[in-house]
Amino acid sequence: MKSIKITPKMNITVLTGAGISAESGIRTFRDTGGLWENHRIEDVATPEGFAINPELVWNFYKERQKNASEAKPNPAHFALAELEEKFGKNLQIVTQNVDGLHRKAGSNNVYEMHGRLDKCFCIDCFSKYDNSSIDLSVKIPLCPKCGGKLRPDIIWFGEIPYYLDIIEKLILNCDVFMVVGTSGVVYPAAGFVMSAKYHGAVTIGINLEKPSNADFFDQFYIGKAGDLLPDLIEQWLN
Ligand code: OAD
Ligand code: ZN
Repeated sequence: MKSIKITPKMNITVLTGAGISAESGIRTFRDTGGLWENHRIEDVATPEGFAINPELVWNFYKERQKNASEAKPNPAHFALAELEEKFGKNLQIVTQNVDGLHRKAGSNNVYEMHGRLDKCFCIDCFSKYDNSSIDLSVKIPLCPKCGGKLRPDIIWFGEIPYYLDIIEKLILNCDVFMVVGTSGVVYPAAGFVMSAKYHGAVTIGINLEKPSNADFFDQFYIGKAGDLLPDLIEQWLN
């Protein structure tokens, strides 16, 4: 097993997924009772679904935003925020999560590659808004500038994630690539660990079960992120 002594001079990139927020009460996508069990992905997570029924799509994301705004970060989010305090810019988080919990825990170096539940944008003029500045009580919120339909600022299936240029650089330059709480089936994120390993990073995984891309990890810890991550980071900090 490839191992490494972690120091604050090293570059660490962490990829997180729904599993890191599970202990905060946010539903994952593919577990029993997951979000995709009750919804057809094409209805609520594709541009085509939005074109057919924007009201249904908005209702789905308003509910998710409400849940996220009520949720509190758990020890896994806080441990990463603590690591950033010590490592500064050398610790970067790439998250597939749209719930905002990393920032709530105090992390600043966060790239939300699948967008954010608390923002929306206009499908005609592409102006972006904080949801807090928009009247969401209407069925389909409209753009204050041009009157076009607003949509949640979420990357849907068939769309290109945000920050891929920056993420590529992080993957090429990191000494350690850690992945927490993701099933490893949604690309491109699922391929990042392979790239990081090929470029020489030590790869570390934490997940409740072995993910689809388990072969690419040098070290793997099976269990809950909220239990395992604080202990691991505590070791790195000492
Ligand atoms: P998934 O629901 O596919 O996977 C969550 C993973 O977290 C599973 O492998 C669980 O076993 C694991 N897990 C659950 N609870 C955990 C815990 N307490 N600690 C550690 N691991 C735990 O979610 P993602 O992999 O994040 O994209 O899904 C990736 C993308 O697919 C999402 O960003 C979303 C979805 O479709 C878009 O909506 C664009
Ligand atoms: Zn507009």
